[in-house]
Amino acid sequence: MALVNAAEMLKKAKAGHYAVGQFNINNLEWTKAILLTAQELSSPVILGVSEGAGKYMTGFKTVAAMVKAMIEELNITVPVALHLDHGTYEGCYKCIKAGFSSIMFDGSHYPFEENLAKSQELVNVAHGLGLSIECEVGSIGGEEDGVVGMGECADPEECKIIADLGVDMLAAGIGNIHGKYPDNWQGLSFETLDAIQAKTGEMPLVLHGGTGIPADMIKKAISLGVSKINVNTECQLSFQEATRKYIEEGKDLQGKGFDPRKLLAPGFEAIKATVKEKMELFGSVGKA
Ligand code: 13P
Repeated sequence: MALVNAAEMLKKAKAGHYAVGQFNINNLEWTKAILLTAQELSSPVILGVSEGAGKYMTGFKTVAAMVKAMIEELNITVPVALHLDHGTYEGCYKCIKAGFSSIMFDGSHYPFEENLAKSQELVNVAHGLGLSIECEVGSIGGEEDGVVGMGECADPEECKIIADLGVDMLAAGIGNIHGKYPDNWQGLSFETLDAIQAKTGEMPLVLHGGTGIPADMIKKAISLGVSKINVNTECQLSFQEATRKYIEEGKDLQGKGFDPRKLLAPGFEAIKATVKEKMELFGSVGKA
């Protein structure tokens, strides 16, 4: 199946009270692990690409070509969206040109009026070309690829104004942050989420910072209108832990254990296991 935009899968998720996972990719192993797991579980999936990861993979054109070819070569038939994560204004245009099927414009660090104007322009451009678009209100805390957010709670009124531009999914801060949660984290603000959902109605809401949020909070967030959950750090941690174990056990020194296909295999399997666990938790299994 060719790439799809994320609008349809998220509308279905919102109506069906489950969430579609966005899993960020870093390289070929990540992409293959996520696509194969989605196919095995018959789940729709969104591949997220940050600007930093795009640059690492030599550019968005390389990423789009790799993902499209991999879908074909692996006979992936579940819906897959290729989505820019926390895009800048310029990054959005680059991904549109490169053949992504979905973009996120993160204008949360601009004054609200500027976020609004740029979001409106990009909604029109994306929709004109058949792409879906995510916009953001109230920055997400933590640090991701040099983008540092404060972890605010979004203003529900502002969420409504941005949602009314016709965006396909809305990222709104509710105390969530990227990366590991600190010990003194206060948890998600369900009061804020409830207020945002009341103002934005059918709009699929996006929960960033999916790593380390306890299962009960994830379930409650989904029940309050979250239809897309982003996971990045957790796959990195799983990969790192499995790779460390392989090397610490000296397996790279045995026989042809240095072969990259062997060296990277435990990390690859660990990513698959993490993605499976998340898809089960989010309720997207069997929803393709
Ligand atoms: P984590 O790295 O905390 O899982 O967050 C991912 C994310 O929100 C990507 O936008």
